[in-house]
Amino acid sequence: MTSVFREDALAGKVAVITGGGTGMGADMAVGFARLGADVLPLSRNLEHLAPVAEEIRALGRTSEPLVCDVRDADAVRSTLDGVVERHGRIDILVNSAAGNFRCPALDLSPNAWRVVVDIDLNGTFLCSQAAARHMLREGSGTILNIIGDFVETHGEAMAHAAAAKAGIWNLTRSLAKEWGPAIRVNSLSPGPIQTPHGVRALGSQDRFDRLAAAIPLRRIGDCAEITNAAAFLVSDAASFITGASLAVDGGHSFSGYDLPLDGTPGR
Ligand code: COA
Repeated sequence: MTSVFREDALAGKVAVITGGGTGMGADMAVGFARLGADVLPLSRNLEHLAPVAEEIRALGRTSEPLVCDVRDADAVRSTLDGVVERHGRIDILVNSAAGNFRCPALDLSPNAWRVVVDIDLNGTFLCSQAAARHMLREGSGTILNIIGDFVETHGEAMAHAAAAKAGIWNLTRSLAKEWGPAIRVNSLSPGPIQTPHGVRALGSQDRFDRLAAAIPLRRIGDCAEITNAAAFLVSDAASFITGASLAVDGGHSFSGYDLPLDGTPGR
């Protein structure tokens, strides 16, 4: 994957990436470390985090796995306070942790709705608030929220996730206004990206590949394409960008966001 960045584009920065143990979050964690950042991936699952932290350390950067449930306000606060105690500050927070599954709205149990809103929207708020306490004291920092290309259209069998992600998009602008000029807050909106979770959510690689038909660029995206765009938004090169959303979706969202699927996979 082509990169326009200097190898030290994020040098000296301390980054926390929620959902950093798998998929796009893990790719961003390693990608930011390649650009010189010390990166701390955060998720509930140490098994996912440990190899990512190891890979980052192998690049000569500092890393440690942060085991934390983003739904737990006390745990989030003490985890991010601990980062500042041990690493001095938090320059970059990426809210990439998400829970999602395809399920028709009528079949969602109250708990199924709640768990996705809790991880996505509430988790993003809690992590942002805990990081911002430190960033505002330092007078600088940047927060990047990973949303989705369905935010401005609809979530097909994903009303829960689409509603939560749309909430995050508004939160992006509310916090950008409230926490500027110290903190820049932006969103990145990925389209279909090749990850194990993306394939699992649709039931098979074949079904996932069929999404390409609805994308003007006629292909599924790659994690590295998300990492490149994310690295730009959190870098000083994006110093006049806040409250913005960048679609990295091959044109999926503006072209109508059709999911060319026959039926909805069940549980
Ligand atoms: N369809 C319908 N309901 C579902 C479901 C599905 N595919 N998967 C989970 N649920 C429901 C559960 O039945 C439960 O509701 P209930 O108590 O009424 O039965 C509720 O959601 C919570 O599920 P649970 O598995 O107990 O929650 P969890 O906190 O352990 O898991 C999830 C979180 C639900 C997001 C889980 O799918 C997960 O961990 N996914 C992997 C990570 C992921 O989704 N990443 C997305 C990246 S976009």
